[in-house]
Amino acid sequence: GKVAVLFGGRSSEREVSLRSGKAVLEALQRSGVDAHGVDGIGDFLLTLKSQGFARVWNAMHGRGGEDGQVQGALQLLGIPCTGSGVAASALAMDKMRSKQLWMGIGLPTPNFQVVSADMVESEQGARAIFARLGPIVMVKPSNEGSSVGMAKVDSIEGLRNAVTAATEFDRTVIVERFIRGPEFTVGIVGDEVLPSISMSTPRDFYDYQAKYHSTTTIYNCPSGLDERDEQQLRELAKWAYDSLGCKGWSRVDVMRDEASKEFFVLEVNTVPGMTETSLVPKAAKVAGMSFEELCLRILQSAM
Ligand code: DAL
Ligand code: MG
Repeated sequence: GKVAVLFGGRSSEREVSLRSGKAVLEALQRSGVDAHGVDGIGDFLLTLKSQGFARVWNAMHGRGGEDGQVQGALQLLGIPCTGSGVAASALAMDKMRSKQLWMGIGLPTPNFQVVSADMVESEQGARAIFARLGPIVMVKPSNEGSSVGMAKVDSIEGLRNAVTAATEFDRTVIVERFIRGPEFTVGIVGDEVLPSISMSTPRDFYDYQAKYHSTTTIYNCPSGLDERDEQQLRELAKWAYDSLGCKGWSRVDVMRDEASKEFFVLEVNTVPGMTETSLVPKAAKVAGMSFEELCLRILQSAM
């Protein structure tokens, strides 16, 4: 039957999603799938129902598309959708709750705390955060993607500004210990855990610019880890994915402390970027899977 590739939507990652959706749509069409693009704004749910779409390939990143909302709506309409279900999507989109769960099961994730603008207004409150988490911290809106609203800070002034800025994107803001070391990411498609990718950037951290508008970001896949470390990283990624109840596909972001060599999971992305130069497609290629095969494999998760 007809497949809707759902993209766009209203989140801050709309532009990225338009690129992911276009790449997926074209790949499915090249593979002979009767695929049509649908922008996830306005009356799109009515359109999906009235035009008789059999399945949805969800390429909407961020709020509304990646956080369980569209997954729940489609479930009620009886239209199968790619990727994780309502609960796993909502949990994975929420960094605070993902990390609380991981701390509860002993899965390594950087120490953090939830903060408010009030807490960092006092000198004492701000100092307590650095005392607890270390001299450099990451400030993040709990529910966002693509590093939107994030900052790396090492001063009280910087912390205050970053918390105020992050509050624009989400009511819940977390401050996390900064892990000095390379960042890795691990794609999971169906039951297959893909080879890890390592990223490095001359920028302050792997931010929106480094992700989408940079020629200086370096990606390595295979990542250059020795076999034992690679296996440990992949097992950790799979554990993080399973612990949130994810399904179909995802990408797990991980930092490695360059001093202790320990891995720390940052988050799970249940609708990772799917432009032709995105990370999951890169890793898939190394595993011998073309972009078209990858899109078809993910489509199979919509049952
Ligand atoms: N949130 C972006 C799309 C990613 O994780 O790839
Ligand atoms: Mg993310």
